[in-house]
Amino acid sequence: MNHKKQEVHDFWNEASCGEDLYLAAADRKGYEAQAEARYRLEPYIFDFADFASARGQKVLEIGVGLGADHQRFAEAGADLYGIDLTERAVEHTRQRLAAFGLSSHLSIGDAERLDFPDESFDRIYSWGVLHHSPDTQKAISEVHRVLKRGGGHES
Ligand SMILES: C[S@@+](CC[C@H](N)C(=O)[O-])C[C@H]1O[C@@H](n2cnc3c(N)ncnc32)[C@H](O)[C@@H]1O
Repeated sequence: MNHKKQEVHDFWNEASCGEDLYLAAADRKGYEAQAEARYRLEPYIFDFADFASARGQKVLEIGVGLGADHQRFAEAGADLYGIDLTERAVEHTRQRLAAFGLSSHLSIGDAERLDFPDESFDRIYSWGVLHHSPDTQKAISEVHRVLKRGGGHES
């Protein structure tokens, strides 16, 4: 990992996005309360993400953070994959999904070097992430590489 990306990693591995402000406990109640605060503050996420339409789609979320949006895709019935640069975010999202009896293929990964073959996904979703990566253009090129022809991306 180069120096700049290490800094990004270390920053988000101290506390995932919204963790200090909105996550009182890493359990079902805590994640529910964090999601309630998130969607109260950013209600437009629902229109943007259109979670329900992901049913049956193979979806990759890049930069899962605390996993609130990831949970929505899992609840919608997506064939779901998620990555984050930090161990902390992957662990939170894993715990969160487990608390709700949901599942996803979660791994630590870098948006600039996606560890998936070309044209793997119907949809790629990322909220508040790609501009944090030092080479944003490389991350966007990777999104295009692993997206199926005719697939959709939201970021
Ligand atoms: C502002 S937070 C957003 C998290 C989540 N999407 C949300 O909306 O709460 C940015 C997230 O992007 C992740 N991130 C930053 N650069 C990344 C990269 N190159 N690849 C994967 N994840 C990255 C960080 O670890 C952090 O979890």
